[in-house]
Amino acid sequence: MNERILDFFTKDALEAARANNTYRTLRHISSPEASHVTIAGKDTVLLASNSYLDLANVSELKQAMADAVLEWGTGSGGARLTTGNKTPHDELEEFIAQFKGEEAAIVFNTGYMANVGTISALCGKNDFIFSDELNHASIIDGIRLSRAKCFVYKHNDMADLERAIEAAKAEFCAREKLAENAVSNFRGLIVTDAVFSMDGDLANLPELLRIAKAHGVLLMIDEAHATGVLGRTGRGLAEHYNCEHADVTVGTLSKAVAAEGGFVAGSKQLIEFLKNKSRSFIFTTAMAPAVAAAALRNLQFIDAHPERVQQLRDNVKFFCDALRLHGLQVPQTESAIIPIIIGDEAKALRISETLQKRGILIPAIRYPTVAKGQARLRASLMATHTKEELEFAAAKIAEII
Ligand SMILES: Cc1ncc(COP(=O)(O)O)c(C=O)c1O
Repeated sequence: MNERILDFFTKDALEAARANNTYRTLRHISSPEASHVTIAGKDTVLLASNSYLDLANVSELKQAMADAVLEWGTGSGGARLTTGNKTPHDELEEFIAQFKGEEAAIVFNTGYMANVGTISALCGKNDFIFSDELNHASIIDGIRLSRAKCFVYKHNDMADLERAIEAAKAEFCAREKLAENAVSNFRGLIVTDAVFSMDGDLANLPELLRIAKAHGVLLMIDEAHATGVLGRTGRGLAEHYNCEHADVTVGTLSKAVAAEGGFVAGSKQLIEFLKNKSRSFIFTTAMAPAVAAAALRNLQFIDAHPERVQQLRDNVKFFCDALRLHGLQVPQTESAIIPIIIGDEAKALRISETLQKRGILIPAIRYPTVAKGQARLRASLMATHTKEELEFAAAKIAEII
């Protein structure tokens, strides 16, 4: 190995990360994902999981996955378009479409791959993308891969979004040497998280739908943190607002659904297009059929148990009220993500470490995941946390801060 050249590529970046408190290390957890976990032999309340409904540990769901492994083996053996497509993949896609109230759905191996593969298939270098400034990294990477011209609009600022669309149309007319308003070939895509992953706030879907219609552009939302969480039965943002759906709905099977994979739901034509054009769907081995079977079984469980979604919502309200009673400011949130803003990176890290010593895990989220000086504790709740655990955690957080 040529150490000098490897240093040339890696050493400065690592040293800089150490110097500015952004160096990352893995945490070792020696028990399954649940509302309590074991870290370094210590029982710890987990306020940091994306498994919002705590389905990873439901006995009947674990048994269903074990049975699926026995029936379908350990891997798929091929890409979806070669030999990898098995009955559980088809059944999962059918159920996602039904659950989301769409004509069809397509499953990817991760939510990351769904975003990257969808945006880069839909848009090319002559197109325009309008992206909320707080969108997830997988959306940003999809936009970069598409090579489309990207306009980043201020977070949830619908006036800024409309300004960006007007600016893009003007640029398009100038580029194509068209008279103003001669924009029938203009192709634009608005893309946004449904629930913003570091702030827990929601995209304004009714207003986004209005703007997309008024300006003749496509609308894509990423429901990674919305599926299984928002709406009375956990169907997501459209159920929450009781409004129409976006043209393209992306989601993940790895958070509330507690399996693995990503999906896109929408019209039959959109899904056929992605099966033909999405490179992160085509050029990769299909997810293990047992994982698809598990995701299907878990989604069916959510469908049959809307009370679990309500339980999560009750917990979020209880915890936010408790934090406020202890004098902390937290935003009104309808998702399961509650940011407690600290500001300074090193301070956020110290608070998180102290909490962990007292048996509570809430990670400190720092630059570059969030903006510099916006470091925070990012609490996320599960439907199964008890009121005692949440009250204990709220009191400890306030005391340590
Ligand atoms: C908003 C958002 N979109 C997409 C993803 C990616 O999903 P996955 O973990 O299934 O790759 C995540 C998180 O991981 C996310 O927070």
